[in-house]
Amino acid sequence: MANSPSGDSTIDRLVRILETFSTDRTVQTAAEIGRRAGLPSSTAHRIVDDLVEAGVLERDEHHRIRLGMRLWELALRGSRALRLRQAALPFMERVQARLREHTQLAVLEQDEALFLERLSSPTSGANITRVAGRLPLHASSSGLVLLAYADADVVERVFAQPLQAVSAETITDAAVLRRTLADVRRRGHVVAPGSIERVSTGVAVPVRDERGRVIAALSVVLPRDSGAEAAAIEELTAASAGITRALSRRRD
Ligand code: PHB
Repeated sequence: MANSPSGDSTIDRLVRILETFSTDRTVQTAAEIGRRAGLPSSTAHRIVDDLVEAGVLERDEHHRIRLGMRLWELALRGSRALRLRQAALPFMERVQARLREHTQLAVLEQDEALFLERLSSPTSGANITRVAGRLPLHASSSGLVLLAYADADVVERVFAQPLQAVSAETITDAAVLRRTLADVRRRGHVVAPGSIERVSTGVAVPVRDERGRVIAALSVVLPRDSGAEAAAIEELTAASAGITRALSRRRD
């Protein structure tokens, strides 16, 4: 790949540009993109123009840039995330209809929980999770499930860093986290009160593929005082088994 005078490849620069977008920063000017990607302004403008031309980025009437629909289309095409989300949706809808609380699906991605789907109703309580958003593995119920079944190298990296508190009740002690992960594996679920925010309890279970490997976490976020934890575990466990059955039937 062609390298710039600073030695980074076209692909490096392209990825740096795309990574300036986040769940909180969805619209930017080309100049802001260039600054955040660490690129000279002329280079940033040229690459942004090419990407707009290709539909990967879109420019609105105020000349601000956002990620393009074409990128969404290509990213979803044949992706494992889409296959999993489609298999999971009917079961998530049932959990959501019965409990009437936020129901979400997350996968392990670069040592964080990445949320593929979230269903909510107008009466559901607080929840900071967003589709295509991430939460730390040690702090969220989904993350604890994903970490409990993760490969040793992921676990090693998580324990090599300080465990940052998201709330006053986030697990920040390595020994407590190890015990919690062993507990998750023994029980097949986790109940995490106040780990992300004081007012909510996350409840999560593993989702297995047709070969028995844990590929996702299915969770609900309950108001702390709902008393619905046992019902949530039951619904989530049944839904998770349903998703595994659906995955073994689907070949798309
Ligand atoms: C959780 O998964 O534990 C969780 C996620 C989002 C919240 C609260 C709890 O807002």
